Amino acid sequence: MIKNIGLRGVKVADTKISHVDGENGILIYRGYRIEDLARNSTFEETAYLLLYDALPSAAQLEEFTRQLARARQVPTFVLNALKDLPHGAHPMDVLQASIPLLAMADPDLNDDSREANLTRAMRLIAKVAPLVAAWQRIRHDKEPLSPDDALSHAGNFLWQLTGEKPDPETAKDLDTALVLHADHSFNPSTFACREVVSTRAHMYAGVAAGVGALSGSLHGGANAQVMKMLMELKDEKDVPAWVIAQLDNNRKIMGMGHAVYKTLDPRARFLKDMCSRIGRKLGQEHWCRLSARIEESAVAEFEKRGKTTIKPNVDFYSAPVYHMMGLTGDLMTPVFAASRIAGWTAHIIEEKFGDAQEKPALYRPSSEYIGNYCGKTGCEYEPMGERK
Ligand SMILES: CC(C)(COP(=O)(O)OP(=O)(O)OC[C@H]1O[C@@H](n2cnc3c(N)ncnc32)[C@H](O)[C@@H]1OP(=O)(O)O)[C@@H](O)C(=O)NCCC(=O)NCCS
Repeated sequence: MIKNIGLRGVKVADTKISHVDGENGILIYRGYRIEDLARNSTFEETAYLLLYDALPSAAQLEEFTRQLARARQVPTFVLNALKDLPHGAHPMDVLQASIPLLAMADPDLNDDSREANLTRAMRLIAKVAPLVAAWQRIRHDKEPLSPDDALSHAGNFLWQLTGEKPDPETAKDLDTALVLHADHSFNPSTFACREVVSTRAHMYAGVAAGVGALSGSLHGGANAQVMKMLMELKDEKDVPAWVIAQLDNNRKIMGMGHAVYKTLDPRARFLKDMCSRIGRKLGQEHWCRLSARIEESAVAEFEKRGKTTIKPNVDFYSAPVYHMMGLTGDLMTPVFAASRIAGWTAHIIEEKFGDAQEKPALYRPSSEYIGNYCGKTGCEYEPMGERK
């Protein structure tokens, strides 16, 4: 028996969807380098690639984009349910609670064929961003807006959030950020999705688990924590002392370190450049300078302490980027979910159909029982009156 607490480096399945080379800082989706996709692709095309294992032809992309745009409308009963929720609810909790409601609106829920799952995946990819936007408006006492089919997935998200047609450059930057976050092999939330559907539960059950896993601050929740850190720090001159105090007190520096990358996360490199460009455009470069100062101080301090592999991850620079786009505070992790839904659904289909291995298998690891109360055969049950 092998025991590996935290499963670091343990291969639990094969996948054809994406690969992370943590030593060399390389990420590929279906064979394509993330940098190439971020520069040249769109979220719609990347979602197609993840689901269908090939880049689409022009006609295929046009059709898929049209299907996504048509599937954006969130059912009225789901919007009404959101209106009854306490306005203080966290958007990740609301999103997690909304996914099974979408299952109730699926007319083909009992059809577990590949075709039905691909349609389900497309509809979920289309609806997560509008759901996040609807909750953002409802909790601020505004009516949710109807989607605009003429806008891209990213552009429509900004429209449904704000009620203003986004400028094309901002929509394109968000689109690129969505491409960067769309998949990441067996990260905790994707593993949660795959684990759940390995029991033959439906896609919605898997996605709800994925949303829950993503919400944690060691995973997708880190971007909101990074922004909190930037807001609290404000001044670059405070950074070195703050970094030392964090590490001396065994506190994490959010957005740094990774379970797989032992060098700079390629997505962080891309987002750092994007941060500088957007910062210059909006006259808000101070966020990027502050982030870079934290990176520099933290990496130097980690190295002094013998931890030479802790570098910024995707959440470090996505936080100031999202903040400058107006997607700030607790909205940041839901934006991550609005992208990762593409990877989650692709992995769920791969898991359900055993696409990368001989046949589907139920995940069922073991644990070592160390609660040795009365030996491993157990205690003798004492009736209530006889207990001391
Ligand atoms: C992501 C994360 C959980 C990976 O953790 P991990 O695989 O356990 O990390 P490592 O094994 O590389 O950590 C080794 C050591 O570095 C420390 N470390 C790792 N990341 C750190 C961080 N961001 N700040 C401070 N210390 C950190 C660990 O506490 C551990 O210290 P110890 O050996 O003294 O106990 C971790 O880096 C982290 O918590 N980062 C901050 C949260 C975050 O940004 N999450 C988003 C990930 S995409």
